[in-house]
Amino acid sequence: MNITIIGAGYVGLVTGACLAGSGHQVTVVDRDHARIAALKRGVMPIYETGLEALVAETVAAGRLAFTTALAPAVAACQAVFICVGTPPRPDDGHADLSSVYAVAAEIAGALDHFTLVVTKSTVPVGTGDEVEAIIRDIRPEARFAVVSNPEFLREGVAIADFMRPDRIVVGGEDGEALSLMAELYLPLTEAGAPLVSVNRRTAELIKYAANCFLALKITYINEIANLCEEVGADVEHVSRGIGLDSRIGAKFLKAGPGFGGSCFPKDMLALMKTAQDHGMPLRSVETAVAVNDARKGEMVRKIIRAAGGSVQGKTVAVLGLTFKPDTDDMRSAASLVILPRLIKAGAHIRAYDPAGMAHAAPLLPGVAMAESALAAARDADLVVLITEWAEFRTLDLDQLRATLKTPLLVDLRNLFDPAAAEQAGLRYVSVGRGASPEAMPLTGHQPFAAMQQGLLAVS
Ligand code: NAD
Ligand code: UGA
Repeated sequence: MNITIIGAGYVGLVTGACLAGSGHQVTVVDRDHARIAALKRGVMPIYETGLEALVAETVAAGRLAFTTALAPAVAACQAVFICVGTPPRPDDGHADLSSVYAVAAEIAGALDHFTLVVTKSTVPVGTGDEVEAIIRDIRPEARFAVVSNPEFLREGVAIADFMRPDRIVVGGEDGEALSLMAELYLPLTEAGAPLVSVNRRTAELIKYAANCFLALKITYINEIANLCEEVGADVEHVSRGIGLDSRIGAKFLKAGPGFGGSCFPKDMLALMKTAQDHGMPLRSVETAVAVNDARKGEMVRKIIRAAGGSVQGKTVAVLGLTFKPDTDDMRSAASLVILPRLIKAGAHIRAYDPAGMAHAAPLLPGVAMAESALAAARDADLVVLITEWAEFRTLDLDQLRATLKTPLLVDLRNLFDPAAAEQAGLRYVSVGRGASPEAMPLTGHQPFAAMQQGLLAVS
């Protein structure tokens, strides 16, 4: 099929490259001239494993092209995908749909024959109706159908997620449109991806319900991690112990500094708003947002406690700045909250991130960037791991210990084995592992903690 994608960001670019990779003829449009010029030179605007190679391959095969000219690309295609951003509105947290609506109006002006208008951006329930109304208003005679096709890819593993999705959700009422969508995704459904065909509003809601559920899972395990520290339990084992229950599932049960990223925080706010507007507040989602916001402050207090009650005048080495590994995306990264608070508490921060430093530097004034993990740690009073990049996993802990002024490692992602860290001579503080040194002084549960210690000693 001949497909046009509007928006050359994480979703648009990956969708375009993957659809071209599965045999379609794709044109990706963006209004950002510099971005399109770079893409034409083979330079990716985002850090995403495998993307550059897939783009190069599909461009060379003549199946993928880039342009800033929306109208000719829409006039020539059978399906146009809207993949522009839907950030939160600063005033009320609702999804800002101005880019989606602007693109809908531009598409209307360019329609030439029956065209599928596919909303892939994450949009609140009812947005498809509005997109349809905008197009109908501008071009009453045009032949088109608006379909919702939310995207579930994760940054860092976007190509694998797109090519082997758990499911493809398509929402619409028009039979011709739905069969065209089924044809478009045939390479993926033939490879085993289930196609969930629903009405448009249901498809729009599925996307928010999925993201919020995943965020609830993370929030829950983070609260359980806090409890683990109090009672001398180990959250890693709790996650495994509950995750093996197939009704719960093992994924998204990693405790950490709280979820971030371009989507969970904004989508939770947007769903909360939609629910409130309909008089059906989602208390679980509201609570998870509050708990996750508070978590960054808890992490700051944890770091300061581990440092002996103050970071005033201390050098803190920070490993990892992005909201998760394998991306350079800094949107709603935990580091953006934790680091300024440590600076306010008097710390000097020296940070290293394998891919995020260029984006992070302007967002984190006062943070010195280092060229490696060990360079960040040189003569530091403590090291704090915020993002679990694979290269940190293989850090030589003896070398890290020798590099630090004080042998203290605060691991907010439980990346390291406590025994290995302690064997290297590091004082090791992690998340939700009740045997960590900072959990023990808490006296409220002394008998139980003592009992646990006793059990650990015999096991
Ligand atoms: P992004 O900010 O990375 O990219 C959006 C692109 O759209 C930008 O390049 C921008 O220049 C372009 N754009 C904006 N207005 C335009 C216009 N009028 N004409 C042409 N181009 C225009 O955004 P993203 O992260 O790809 O997210 C896009 C949507 O997909 C959002 O709704 C998001 O919630 C959703 N989503 C994102 C992810 C993810 O992992 N990032 C995953 C699933 C869904
Ligand atoms: C998330 C969803 O996983 C995708 O399905 C969805 O398409 C996307 O949002 C979106 O709508 O944009 P993404 O934000 O790329 O993907 O990253 P995730 O892997 O989901 O991680 C989100 C945040 O949760 C990160 O800060 C991560 O560190 C944190 N997380 C994740 C945990 O703290 N624990 C976990 O067990 C999993």
